[in-house]
Amino acid sequence: MKLLVTGGAGFIGSNFVRYVLSNHPEDAVVNFDALTYAGNLENLSDLQDNPRYTFVHGDIASPRDVSKIFRDQPIDVIVNFAAESHVDRSLHMGPRTFIRTNILGTQMLLDAARKHKVRRFLQVSTDEVYGSLGPTGAFTEETPLQPNNPYAATKAGADCMVRAASHSHGLDAVITRCSNNFGPCQFPEKLIPLMITTALADKPLPVYGDGMHVRDWIYVVDHCSGIDTVLRRAKSGSVYNLGGNYDVPNIQIVKGVLKILGKPESLITYVKDRPGHDRRYAMDSSRARRELDWTPAHRFEDALKATVDWYVNHPLWWQRIRSGEYLKAYEKLYGWRDEQCR
Ligand code: NAD
Ligand code: DAU
Repeated sequence: MKLLVTGGAGFIGSNFVRYVLSNHPEDAVVNFDALTYAGNLENLSDLQDNPRYTFVHGDIASPRDVSKIFRDQPIDVIVNFAAESHVDRSLHMGPRTFIRTNILGTQMLLDAARKHKVRRFLQVSTDEVYGSLGPTGAFTEETPLQPNNPYAATKAGADCMVRAASHSHGLDAVITRCSNNFGPCQFPEKLIPLMITTALADKPLPVYGDGMHVRDWIYVVDHCSGIDTVLRRAKSGSVYNLGGNYDVPNIQIVKGVLKILGKPESLITYVKDRPGHDRRYAMDSSRARRELDWTPAHRFEDALKATVDWYVNHPLWWQRIRSGEYLKAYEKLYGWRDEQCR
C-alpha cells in the first residue's frame, strides 16, 4: 500500500512515517510537507536512503502542488497530519494561516481523494474540537463540537468537511481525535518540550494561570499505533477518540519534568492565563478499545523519562530551532510573557 502522509516532517507525522515503515514492510510512504517553521527534515534524516520513503515539498492548500502529487504516482490512502497546530499562535498571531491550511488545505486533499479514487482518507484531528469539560466526565465521539480557540475552530471545520465528503459523496473517510501528545521531535513551543529545554537553560518556566488546567497526555508512539489501527481496521465514516488515560493538571507535568532533570521548583513562574483557556480535557477511548482492540502501550512515567532523555541527548536539534528566526517569532508571540518571568 502507498500512503500519502501530509505534514510528515512535523512532530507526530515524522513519528508516524517511521512507525509505518518499521511495522509494515510491504508499505511505501510519500511525505508531503510544506516545511513551515514546524517542519524539519532532520526528523527523518535516517530514512533518506530508504527505497520505500519519498519526500515531496508542497503545500496542501495549493491546487497545483496537490494535483502534481497525484499526477506523478498512484496513491492508495491519505493520512492528513498537515496543520498549523499551536493554539497560542492562533490566538496571538491571527487565524489566517490556520484557516488556509487546516480547512482549505483539508478540502483540497478531500477533492483530490475523490478525483483520484483514493481508497481511504484519514483525518488526524484533536480532542480540542470538543471544547472544555466541567469537573467530571470525559469526551466521547458523540460529544458536540464546541471549539473555543481559533486553532480548535479550524480543526472542527476540517472535521465537518471530512464528514460532508463521506456523507454526500461516499468518500471512504475516517477521523481520529487525539489528546495531548509528547515525545521525541516535538517543537519546543508545546508544554513538555518547552519546559524541558527552558529548565535545561535554568530559565523561568511560564505556567499559565493557576497551573490547574487538565490535559490528557499520550506518548506519540501510542497515537501512531492508534492512527495505524483506525486506518487499517475502522469502518468507513467512523470517528475514534484516542487518549492516553492520563489526565492531570499542567503543574503536575511541569513538576515531573523538573524532578527528572534534578532542577528546582523555584524555576516555576505563574504567568497571565491564555485567553479562553479550556479548563479540562479527558478522553473516553473505549470505542477504540472495544471495536478495534487498540489501547496505549506506554506508561506515562516511562515515556516522560524517555522524552526528557531524548531532549538531553539531542541538544543540537532544539538549540538550532531556538535560535535565529525562531527567536524573532518567539519575541513577537511571547514578549508579554517574558516580562512576567523577569
Ligand atoms: P506540527 O506543527 O509539529 O507539524 C505540522 C506539520 O505540517 C509540519 O511539518 C508543517 O511543515 C506541515 N504543514 C503545515 N502547513 C502545511 C501545508 N499548508 N502544507 C503541507 N504541510 C504543512 O504538528 P503536530 O503536533 O505534529 O500535529 C500534527 C497533526 O496532529 C495536526 O493536524 C494536529 O492538529 C494533530 N494533533 C496534534 C496533537 C498534539 O498534541 N500535538 C494532538 C492531537 C492532534
Ligand atoms: O489536545 C490536543 C492539542 O494539544 C493539539 O490539538 C494541539 O495541536 C497541541 O498543540 C496541544 O494543544 P494545547 O494547547 O493543549 O498544548 P500546549 O502544549 O500549547 O499547552 C498544554 C497546556 O499547557 C495548556 O493547558 C496550556 C499550558 N501551557 C502551555 C504553554 C505553551 C502553559 O501553562 N505554559 C506554556 O508556556
